[in-house]
Amino acid sequence: MAVLARSILVTGSNRGIGLELVKQLVEMSDPPEHIFATCRDPDGPRGRALHDLADKHPSIHVVQLEVENQSSVKAAVAIVQSYLEGKGLNLLINNAGVDTYDTLQTVEQQEMLCTFNINVVGPILVVKAALNMVTACLAVELKGDEILCIAIHPGWVKTDMGTEKAPLTVQHSVQGILKVLASLSSSSTGTLLDWEGRRIFW
Ligand SMILES: NC(=O)c1ccc[n+]([C@@H]2O[C@H](COP(=O)([O-])OP(=O)(O)OC[C@H]3O[C@@H](n4cnc5c(N)ncnc54)[C@H](OP(=O)(O)O)[C@@H]3O)[C@@H](O)[C@H]2O)c1
Repeated sequence: MAVLARSILVTGSNRGIGLELVKQLVEMSDPPEHIFATCRDPDGPRGRALHDLADKHPSIHVVQLEVENQSSVKAAVAIVQSYLEGKGLNLLINNAGVDTYDTLQTVEQQEMLCTFNINVVGPILVVKAALNMVTACLAVELKGDEILCIAIHPGWVKTDMGTEKAPLTVQHSVQGILKVLASLSSSSTGTLLDWEGRRIFW
């Protein structure tokens, strides 16, 4: 696959689809120069697999980032900026997310708020921080329409979230996601695509 982007940030990259994205990005024939692999507890047991991968690939920078925590996002931005030295981030993959196993009948307010905070407020905070960084770094060159923003449905994937019952392996889903990312153009912005590039209507 041709070069996807020089610098990429993936949230929730210590397991599941996020970890597989980092694995496949680093194995590309023309890999990104910087992969910011973020996770909320890099030094805990859940960060082990990511650290093992980063030990083998100096382009992977493991960065602490809890998506709904503004001070954590701010600290992560400072680290990313120190590596990019004014060049700006090319691709942000807002992958971190949680699922709820409650039904509408059983779900409690606190659980709804927590899920909303991580899945909705979190990505907006991260995008806002990344945009601010791009704006600060690229000031004059930046044109609004050069930033593509899409949502990708990864399919039903065998991860902790998707469970063993899912029909799709994480490797297969991520291969599809990376192909879709490489094929985007300005007409893709604002769309929801599946992992094979098919349009899903909102
Ligand atoms: N698997 C599927 O079938 C499926 C289907 C549709 C959509 N998706 C979406 O695909 C994305 C990845 O799913 P997955 O299957 O890989 O899920 P997963 O195996 O449960 O992994 C979720 C990842 O998100 C991280 N995360 C959760 N809350 C976070 C927070 N507040 N701050 C930072 N990181 C946080 C987790 O970190 P910890 O290890 O610290 O918990 C973990 O790295 C999610 O957005 C999910 O909604 C998945």
